[in-house]
Amino acid sequence: MEVKYLDLPQQFDDPELIRAVADLFKTCQFIMGPEVARFEEKFAELCGTRFALGVNSGTDALFLALKVLGVGPGHEVITVSNSFIATAGAIVAAGARPVFVDVAQDYNINPTLIEAALTSRTKAILPVHLTGNPANLPKILDIARKHGLVVVEDAAQAIGAAINGQPVGSFGHLGCFSLHPLKNLNVAGDGGMMTTNEEEVYLQLKKMRNHGLKNRDEIDFFAYNSRLDTLQALVAAHRLKRLDQITAQRRKNAGLYDELLSSPEDEVIIPPRRPNFTQVFHTYVIQVRDRGNLIRHLAAKRIETKVHYPIPIHLQAPCRQMGWKPGDLPETEKQAAHILSLPIHQHLTLEQVGYVAHTIRDFYGRR
Ligand SMILES: Cc1ncc(COP(=O)(O)O)c(C=O)c1O
Repeated sequence: MEVKYLDLPQQFDDPELIRAVADLFKTCQFIMGPEVARFEEKFAELCGTRFALGVNSGTDALFLALKVLGVGPGHEVITVSNSFIATAGAIVAAGARPVFVDVAQDYNINPTLIEAALTSRTKAILPVHLTGNPANLPKILDIARKHGLVVVEDAAQAIGAAINGQPVGSFGHLGCFSLHPLKNLNVAGDGGMMTTNEEEVYLQLKKMRNHGLKNRDEIDFFAYNSRLDTLQALVAAHRLKRLDQITAQRRKNAGLYDELLSSPEDEVIIPPRRPNFTQVFHTYVIQVRDRGNLIRHLAAKRIETKVHYPIPIHLQAPCRQMGWKPGDLPETEKQAAHILSLPIHQHLTLEQVGYVAHTIRDFYGRR
């Protein structure tokens, strides 16, 4: 049996989608076609926000969110080091400085460590809902309110995740999502979404993603080109129809892994859960001992795995130049050495999930 980490050709094997794409080549409304606004409306509904806005990528969403909230040179932004590089990259691109706070057992920012990291320059908190599991937003928002900080949610991996039924992306000042092909809700290239309840912020962003234009010929300010292509909005709208099914299947796969991998011996630590936090399993991340040999054992049995992420951001070259060093974030660094992402995608069969789990159990000499 072979288990691939992902199966994109199967996800996009959708004749209805291909027909819709072909139809776009008849109208050729490639830029800001009607599908963009239609998808934005559906996305806002899904996230329970007043507004949603399509942009060019999740990275742009983060960058524009920081810019529109006035984050720039001289400011610090609290975030995490175990994320995709774009989280910190967007902070630096906005001209601010990332300040990394260690994570808790759930792989997300540890709220009890945030206040110690605040300075007079702190302007924002940028929690990441890593793996599709919501960061502890109730606690983060309390801290933000107390200190007058803005909160931008990096929900790139977490479409559909929720706390007490409230969707992520609707808690902070802005929510930022990625539609990258590897995400649960994905398109045929790059794409991103932003969510907010604040009309003024939304109207400003609408101009910011389109050169600062207020009409066809006049700008209010100089800005960028970060529009969501009509083609990608169209693809996203089709994929959205399947999102509930995608999420349900991923959660089901995760439940089966939980059952088969839980062990009193602690060779495998399954992803921690919090009551009332709905996780959508963009990734299913376990912690293991002897990871290198386990990866090789799984590969020999034709099982593909990944590590998200082997090098924490604070140990990347430009952060070392800022003064970050090994030992600064003990929990993040410990996790980076032990985490392993198992295949979790929606097209896995129950037999495949069972095969992965049993191959791991065999490696540790369990039956
Ligand atoms: C946590 C996180 N933040 C930001 C991004 C950036 O999104 P994009 O690739 O759409 O620019 C990603 C995904 O790639 C991500 O996983």
